[in-house]
Amino acid sequence: MSKSAVLSFKGKSFTLPSIEGKEKEIALDIGKLRKESGLITLDPGYKNTGSTKSAITFLDGEKGILRYRGYAIEELAEKSTFLEVAYLLIYGDLPQKDDFEQFKDNITKHTLVHEDVKKILDGFPSHSHPMGILSSLVCAQTAFYPASLDPNRSAEAVNLSIIRLIAKMPTFAAWAYKKEVGHPVVYPDNSFDYCGNFLKMMFALPVKVYELDPVVANALDRILILHADHEQNCSTSTVRLVGSSRASLYASISAGINALWGPLHGGANQAVIEMLDNIIAEGGNFEKYIEKAKDKNDPFRLMGFGHRVYKNFDPRAKMIKKLADEVLAKLGIHDRVLELAKKLEESVLRDEYFIEKKLFPNVDFYSGIIYKAMGIPIEMFTVMFVLGRLPGWIAHWKEMRENNEPIGRPRQIYVGHGHRPYISVDKRTKEKQS
Ligand code: CMC
Repeated sequence: MSKSAVLSFKGKSFTLPSIEGKEKEIALDIGKLRKESGLITLDPGYKNTGSTKSAITFLDGEKGILRYRGYAIEELAEKSTFLEVAYLLIYGDLPQKDDFEQFKDNITKHTLVHEDVKKILDGFPSHSHPMGILSSLVCAQTAFYPASLDPNRSAEAVNLSIIRLIAKMPTFAAWAYKKEVGHPVVYPDNSFDYCGNFLKMMFALPVKVYELDPVVANALDRILILHADHEQNCSTSTVRLVGSSRASLYASISAGINALWGPLHGGANQAVIEMLDNIIAEGGNFEKYIEKAKDKNDPFRLMGFGHRVYKNFDPRAKMIKKLADEVLAKLGIHDRVLELAKKLEESVLRDEYFIEKKLFPNVDFYSGIIYKAMGIPIEMFTVMFVLGRLPGWIAHWKEMRENNEPIGRPRQIYVGHGHRPYISVDKRTKEKQS
């Protein structure tokens, strides 16, 4: 079988070599196409474009497979912990016992944030969305650690930024929430593990002793594992693109947080619950929403359904659905939203429109229900996604820098005006400019 493709254009032929990935996925290498032919390719939304070669995560959207560094997501979610998965993603292998102890130790050493972070927090209006606060606080770390701006830092110095970020992110996240509700911030408590510490900073109040619910802490750890990486999605590609200009880790991750915020990406978990709440408030008629989603003249989409790469069940959605059932049963919660979600899902999976377009429930469809059961407020849902996705973003940023990848700079096809003479302001009219 030929290992290359031939492109014919205007009587000339150009050879495009192929590249085969570890799991037999094949790409055509167009790296020399423009130089040799003057042509570029056009692919809005990068639906068919590989931006890099990566050794971090493999996913097969047709078969519903997701693996981090070769390990199946199902096995990691059942047997591992979030910090172990973070280590795996960032450093490439599961840690040996001593290395893992050292890693956890380093993280607990850096959970405190600079006291001046509180001053920045004070400057935000109350009721600011926590995602905006979070991306600002992460970017502000460039000011507290200016050495992080040096693109030629040693591997040890880069690693220190990585550790600091993993350690401080729960603190920033919980403080963003405390700001919103107007409660005093709670300092990190290193006698708790990673998730327990976050939950304490979220929910502890000066007026009573805080008791951690192990069911909640365990469920959170598993959800974070399920969110930890998803190869070249919108926010990860953002982190890589920003980092490719040699911007610092903090600036790159801050950009990733903003990319995740949108309702078509991580913001969908908030949008799902808002949609389900609206359906309940309007009497439970979910069929109306299904019809709206199918109407080509209506921009509405059924939140929590569809995925750019999964054209089969999202394996994370399957696990989150099971986890939602378990958590709600253990906490003794009967949730109308979960009941409605199940009915909606059943209906959608039988509907020709969704079957034909291969639109299945995605990871965000059930995650909001668990967060709700844990007492996490709705506007914090996407922040929870940030906590989970952080190691993935870091792993990609690190991989991109270690591979010395070139600055990301796509081309375009220009469709605007041709050359126009400048008209001075006193003679300018709409007609003369058109
Ligand atoms: N409801 C109704 N129709 C949909 C939906 C939906 N949720 N998703 C896709 N479609 C239709 C879409 O209108 C299009 O129809 P047509 O071919 O007739 O124009 C077709 O399915 C393909 O959609 P697309 O927009 O070309 O697909 P995409 O790969 O660009 O978009 C998506 C993927 C996730 C943005 C999209 O499915 C969507 O908007 N879903 C709802 C938002 C959501 O749940 N996002 C979370 C994604 S998973 C976690 C994450 O990435 O953060």
